[in-house]
Amino acid sequence: MNVLGIETSCDETALAVVADGHRILSNIVSSQVELHARYGGVVPELASREHVQAIVPVLEEALRAASVHLEEIDAVAVTRGPGLAGALLVGLNFAKALAFALSRPLVGVNHLEGHIYAAWLERDGEAEFPAIALIVSGGHSDVVLMEGHGRYRRLGETVDDAAGEAFDKVARLLGLGFPGGPAIERLASTAAAPAGRLPRARLELPYDFSFSGLKTKVQRIVRGEEGKAPPAAALAAAFQESVVDSLVTKAVQAATDHGARGIILAGGVAANSALRTALAERSPVPVAVPPPALCTDNGAMIAAAGYTRLLAGETAGLDLDIDPGLRIG
Ligand code: KG4
Ligand code: ZN
Repeated sequence: MNVLGIETSCDETALAVVADGHRILSNIVSSQVELHARYGGVVPELASREHVQAIVPVLEEALRAASVHLEEIDAVAVTRGPGLAGALLVGLNFAKALAFALSRPLVGVNHLEGHIYAAWLERDGEAEFPAIALIVSGGHSDVVLMEGHGRYRRLGETVDDAAGEAFDKVARLLGLGFPGGPAIERLASTAAAPAGRLPRARLELPYDFSFSGLKTKVQRIVRGEEGKAPPAAALAAAFQESVVDSLVTKAVQAATDHGARGIILAGGVAANSALRTALAERSPVPVAVPPPALCTDNGAMIAAAGYTRLLAGETAGLDLDIDPGLRIG
């Protein structure tokens, strides 16, 4: 069964053809990073306009790369949220038009669930439940108990900035490019040692995160308000270490407390190799993490999550709507 996955929730126009929920036939991502870089972040109106321009060529490329004709698409899966409203609308309306024209089932996908299902792409192994999913992206930092396919309970979340957002903001403070995560990771890898130990937030709830205090601390250091500023690379390494430690500590705690049989690491920040390494070292249970290219937004993860929903008998009508504030669990 060939599922076309369509993802336009933020600044990537991404379409993919995935066979039987896990075999990637094509996965085309048209990134708008350069367009938004000069503004230091994603400009919603520009994102929508770019999606409109890119979506047909990206579909054509996805079909060509998969060697699949449009008529060989068996179902259409599309991100309905969370994300930027105008950006989501482009993908959703395109998906509806395609599903209607082809007389194929349509299914709406939660973008965060898509990130989780990226962990099972190109793999044969069955998922083991219960599992803890640590979803860390530009907009979310969630610790989720996954009791089965499509069954989620959110245990924790960020009370302020998301992990990826913190990377992006600190990158800006250090004069690095956008998106900040890869830039910080690159710079940190050149440091001989981190610039000391930066704080980890203490929160009332056991699985919650807070990163805005850490960002403010970095800002004070950069401005020389805490003495002579250390080299940017050492500061980047100390920042990354603090974020990684908080994320791994909470995910491992949640896994232990809930008898999880595995941890799934998902979302754009999961591309970070310090995070991947630390979680693998400290987790008491197996860690499933997608290859870095499948951690950031893509259409294959939407097709994979949509496939599971379709198998469960879920399809959407043409009244399917976006849900920009959609959560998980
Ligand atoms: O999942 P994603 O592609 O889009 C959202 O759904 O938000 O995540 C994007 C976020 C950005 O904040 C970006 O800086 C971060 O993921 N990111 C990283 C890395 N690659 C992307 N953060 C840390 N290290 C990375 N290597
Ligand atoms: Zn994402």
